[in-house]
Amino acid sequence: MRKVTASAPGKMILLGEHSVVYGKPAVALAIDRRIACTVSPSRELLVNGHRASGSIAHPHIKSVLRDNGAANVSVDAVTDIPASSGLGSSAALSASFSLAVRRLFGRETDEESVAADAFNAEYTAQGRASPMDTSVCTHGGGVALNCPIGRHIWSFSRGGNSWDVTEVEVPKMTFVVGYTGIHAPTGPIVERVRKYKERNRFASDVIDEIGAVTLDGVQAMARNDTEELGRIMTQNHKLLSILGVSCDQLNKLVNASLPYSYGAKLTGSGGGGSMIALTDRPEQVCEAIAVRGGVPMVVHTGEPGVRIEDEQD
Ligand code: MEV
Repeated sequence: MRKVTASAPGKMILLGEHSVVYGKPAVALAIDRRIACTVSPSRELLVNGHRASGSIAHPHIKSVLRDNGAANVSVDAVTDIPASSGLGSSAALSASFSLAVRRLFGRETDEESVAADAFNAEYTAQGRASPMDTSVCTHGGGVALNCPIGRHIWSFSRGGNSWDVTEVEVPKMTFVVGYTGIHAPTGPIVERVRKYKERNRFASDVIDEIGAVTLDGVQAMARNDTEELGRIMTQNHKLLSILGVSCDQLNKLVNASLPYSYGAKLTGSGGGGSMIALTDRPEQVCEAIAVRGGVPMVVHTGEPGVRIEDEQD
């Protein structure tokens, strides 16, 4: 039976989460943790061998199938990206699944089409989203949104916002991820920020300020100024805390990492999930995170984007 396997990397957000949803600048990097989806024809929708029933079950998978005029496939996903960890598990699932489905049904497999399917899936599932996670999981390496830097790869508009996505050079840097172990689905946190922003002028100012520090951080990264980039990451974490998307455990892991890091911040939607530290002392940071009950992982950037791994007839 015809089968296609495609994979995509997870991601970490270096700067600008949440404010990017409102069209502000942001930078995200692909990491060396991947998800692989094997897709084959089927009479009913099967996810890891189970019938996918209910209208809200597997929204990313259903959205990609709908966009490709297909109703049913069998999909088996193998991942080393923890779910709801802030590391892009749903974006990587959407991108790898889109590429596998497109190849299976003989549709275009260019990155922009995959990124469009994946963004649509994320937007539908989350209720509101930027194309940041899905763009970096599709393209790999580093991507910037609405930053005056890098090579243009694609643009998206949705809900009154638009994003110009560029590919950016990522200098060699060492990051440690600290996973809190707290599952934190993105949709409800994005919605909470939306309500806060709607009711409170101060929240809009914080979102603008995150955009401004992100632009400074992008310039620091382009100059290879690790100290300044780290300082801006920590400042970004403080602004995200003011926005109400951090939590005690994230703050603990960030504070524990700082003595051995250039900077540290939560990454992704927050509320749990993960933080990242930019460091040249990864062992000390890993130990500090583990002592505070987090799960440390040294991650490498420069990871390639979505790709076909295997095809069988
Ligand atoms: C989640 O990884 C990043 C957010 O900015 C949401 C989004 O960009 O869609 C919180």
